[in-house]
Amino acid sequence: MMTTPNLRIAIMTDETGWHTGRLKRAFRARGAEARCVDLADCRIDTTWLPHGLVIPGFGRALPDAVFVRGIAGGTFEQVTLRLGILHALRESGVPVYNDARAIERSVDKSMTSFLLHRAGVPTPATWAGESAAFAQRVLMREAAAGRQVVLKPLFGSQGHGLKRLGARGGLLAPLPSLARYRQVAYLQRFVAGGRSGFDWRVLVIGGNAVAAMRRSGGKGWIHNVAQGARCEPAELTVPLAQTAVRATAALGLDYAGVDLIPNPDPADDAALPLVLEVNGVAAWRGLQSVVPLDVAAALVDDLLDRKLAAQRRANQQAEQADSDGLPKQSPQRRA
Ligand SMILES: Nc1ncnc2c1ncn2[C@@H]1O[C@H](COP(=O)(O)OP(=O)(O)O)[C@@H](O)[C@H]1O
Ligand SMILES: [Mg+2]
Repeated sequence: MMTTPNLRIAIMTDETGWHTGRLKRAFRARGAEARCVDLADCRIDTTWLPHGLVIPGFGRALPDAVFVRGIAGGTFEQVTLRLGILHALRESGVPVYNDARAIERSVDKSMTSFLLHRAGVPTPATWAGESAAFAQRVLMREAAAGRQVVLKPLFGSQGHGLKRLGARGGLLAPLPSLARYRQVAYLQRFVAGGRSGFDWRVLVIGGNAVAAMRRSGGKGWIHNVAQGARCEPAELTVPLAQTAVRATAALGLDYAGVDLIPNPDPADDAALPLVLEVNGVAAWRGLQSVVPLDVAAALVDDLLDRKLAAQRRANQQAEQADSDGLPKQSPQRRA
């Protein structure tokens, strides 16, 4: 393994703990120094030369690479600014892992569904809109066909706020108030897992599916580790791996934790698993507890050996084009 001395890495996170500890250790093993930075403490400052970006702990320089481990919630303005810092870093030629554009796509479950659908990746039918009347009609139509739907917070995670809707005992409960869902109805067709319900989490890194687990139990049909699901290692079959890789590519993510569920309709799509969601800021503690792969080391290796290397080539080309007097592709010159 190549060491990468003198590299200074920012791990963007609003909380330090197990994951950041693992990452720091993995960076150190590669000879790189990583420090945790809260995006809320970063600033745009056009008087701060040469970059106009203040990343605490890095002085006037920029990090050599950024690992995005967590972005705290906040007002629309706060989150916009925090993501803006990540966009600004990319525009300044710093590799950001995952890229802010891809994080935005994966955080928004409706955009994830749209992009999966567009790329032909098997995923349950999905509806997202602001009209409660429309959502109610979807619910009734699905119920009439004997199906249920799951109402999810658009920006949800860890199994919070999910509600299964549909006819039970011949009675159809009405759609709950959308106030709790910030006035957006994201509805995904419920995929029945049967009595031994489980789903899969597949970790994709740099275009390869590298680890998988089965999650069962938890809160009823909600198999998140944060809801108490049990984890066990799962075989990375070709359909599972390929589907997860395609889902990750559809969103443009460098790495992702992909949630999948068995397709109950074998006639459909040759029984490929269905993608429930794609996580661009994925936790891996549950997965790490059941797989031998050092997940943090695999992430760090991919960032340094693939992403950073590619960015350096692109920066060099931009500098070369600059000195040749050719028009710049993008403003990626770094002082
Ligand atoms: N359409 C669905 N059909 C069946 N189970 C689902 C469906 N959507 C979600 N689930 C269950 O709920 C869990 C959480 O849903 P998910 O969409 O991954 O949201 P979160 O971001 O909260 O993890 C999934 O891992 C799965 O166990
Ligand atoms: Mg999930």
